[in-house]
Amino acid sequence: MTDTLAWDVYAKRSKQRRLVNAAGQTTWFNWTQYPDHGPGAEILAVGPGSTVLELGCGTGGNLAHLTTLGAHALGVDVSTAQLATAKDRWGYMPGLRVERAEAVAYLTEIGEELDAVFSVFGAAWFTDPNVLLPVVRKRLRPGGVFAFSHRPAIEGCYGCQAAYISCSEDQDPLVVKRWDYEPERWVEILSEHGFTGATAEILPAPPGPRTIGTLLVRAQA
Ligand SMILES: C[S@@+](CC[C@H](N)C(=O)[O-])C[C@H]1O[C@@H](n2cnc3c(N)ncnc32)[C@H](O)[C@@H]1O
Repeated sequence: MTDTLAWDVYAKRSKQRRLVNAAGQTTWFNWTQYPDHGPGAEILAVGPGSTVLELGCGTGGNLAHLTTLGAHALGVDVSTAQLATAKDRWGYMPGLRVERAEAVAYLTEIGEELDAVFSVFGAAWFTDPNVLLPVVRKRLRPGGVFAFSHRPAIEGCYGCQAAYISCSEDQDPLVVKRWDYEPERWVEILSEHGFTGATAEILPAPPGPRTIGTLLVRAQA
């Protein structure tokens, strides 16, 4: 079961997205852990009138950008704290809707057909793919895009891993589970679940002291 307490703790120590990026834009799409880096919303191939769902939307910055492209942007997250920040910052944007829900439960319950589903260091990382992928594929229209990003697997550490979220010095850290695989294995997993055209790559980090890249995975229903 998803630990909402852990994610609320995480939310309180997270940095907020800047007001303006290096290009002077007030909204933008970022797949990576680095500012002003990597591809943008074109990965999702959506436009005016598309319906897009983000799994684990956090504070909603990527969804806000999608609304500027004319998309109906839906976001779900288990953290009340994250969603409160999302509503404060982006709640005025037409076409944006965020809801407190667990990703698999939400996808199981909605009747809507989606043009794209995505997750940036979000619920797709923290949910067993054997549970998540069937419900994502069921809700996507034929040809609709599923894409997600997160840190790459550490060599030799594949499948379900423990991730620690620290609280305070006198409390044990909270634990959430995440699922890590190498790019080639993600392509196989997506194909096993009926997705087509799967690609998975590690985007290199930008020049500077940090060297960990970003896994970016994309496939179509
Ligand atoms: C590391 S944060 C990333 C947030 C955001 N996507 C970003 O790029 O800043 C992970 C987010 O996923 C949410 N999350 C984790 N598991 C989830 C699940 N099963 N269903 C919905 N949200 C989930 C957490 O509450 C948290 O807001």
